[in-house]
Amino acid sequence: MGLLRKTTSTKERKDGMDQSRSRRSFLQTMGFGGMIAGFVGFSYQSFRSLVPNILYEPPMRFKIGLPSNLAEGMTFLVDKRLYVFKEGKSFYAISGACTHLGCTVKQTKLNQPKRVEIDGVEKEVSSEFHCPCHGSKFYSDGTNYAGPAPTPLRWHKLELSPVDGQLVVNMTEEVEKNFRLTV
Ligand code: FES
Repeated sequence: MGLLRKTTSTKERKDGMDQSRSRRSFLQTMGFGGMIAGFVGFSYQSFRSLVPNILYEPPMRFKIGLPSNLAEGMTFLVDKRLYVFKEGKSFYAISGACTHLGCTVKQTKLNQPKRVEIDGVEKEVSSEFHCPCHGSKFYSDGTNYAGPAPTPLRWHKLELSPVDGQLVVNMTEEVEKNFRLTV
């Protein structure tokens, strides 16, 4: 009888220890899980605080006025970084963003016109685009010929608004260098 009680109490002690061990391990797991969840929540909040709820991006399609109001020759739209050209009834637009790292190129009048070969065709040019950042140079039609710029300046599509006849620049659409909008 005494031996039976002793065996039973040893078994109870062992069960009790097992229970307390598994309770401890459960609590440790819960604590670790809570820590991970807290860390993930904190990281998400930190990241989210860096992303604005509203994105203010410049419109990619915008009006620049009536064709008749644009000055003959070149007009530079500073806030759009866009060169718009008017040659009589023809219009075209060249981006002022350098194709190297995006600095704004400046149109530069040459002291005297020079003859250059662009795409196998000889032309006389009297102005160029120069990038002040790393010295890239582009002919007047945007063709890159010196410096690190890998590609020509982009040409953007011009359209006429059917509503009020204003010129509309479509920055989402790139066009070839022979593009002209004739009004
Ligand atoms: S950004 Fe124009 S040459 Fe580098």
